[in-house]
Amino acid sequence: MTGEPKPVIVGVTGASGSVLAKRSVELLIDAGERPILVCTDAGAEVWKHEMGGAIDAWASSAGVMMVDIRDVGAPVASGTTETKGMVVVPCSMGTAAAIAHGLSVNLLQRAADVTIKEARPLVIVPRESPLSVIHLTNMLTLARAGVRIVLPVPAFYAEPKTVDDVVEHIASRALGALGIATGLENSYRYRRSGD
Ligand SMILES: Cc1cc2nc3c(=O)[nH]c(=O)nc-3n(C[C@H](O)[C@H](O)[C@H](O)COP(=O)(O)O)c2cc1C
Repeated sequence: MTGEPKPVIVGVTGASGSVLAKRSVELLIDAGERPILVCTDAGAEVWKHEMGGAIDAWASSAGVMMVDIRDVGAPVASGTTETKGMVVVPCSMGTAAAIAHGLSVNLLQRAADVTIKEARPLVIVPRESPLSVIHLTNMLTLARAGVRIVLPVPAFYAEPKTVDDVVEHIASRALGALGIATGLENSYRYRRSGD
């Protein structure tokens, strides 16, 4: 044993919202956690489009371990590797469907499948609009399997002033659902009439 904390798996897919993944990883690091990144091919494509660079270059500059999506023999593909759980952020409808049906065709899907079977916390941040009955049915299947679903929607009562405020709030809610405190959960306030 190295004495390192158990890792938190962060799955990144090709849904819009790469910045949510980046902020989630940063908040995990700030909280003293050990994120392990797994990104789908589409996730890497969307990251490049939305963030203007490569996710693996960012991960290496941030000192974050990133595991190849094709490496289905990686430690996080096995239930014997203890983790604190997994967050899939952002989560595409394709990956949500695959996890709901246990497909496990890549490392991200396999790690999610393992997280569910080992009864560890799994949180997804699914992004699509509008949602079809297929999307909703898959999410219901996941919720019934104990997966927490955190929507990437603004909390207007938090009076966000910037996109960063919105991103940070969503990322902290996703990590909170995983049981990881960021200290930001109550950083907003309710505006009462007359304030
Ligand atoms: C710029 C861009 C934005 C996308 N946004 C979404 C999205 O918000 N939600 C979604 O489900 N798919 C979105 N897609 C489509 C997915 O990337 C595509 O379905 C992909 O096959 C998902 O693969 P993955 O689940 O392995 O990452 C987007 C694609 C691109 C190129």
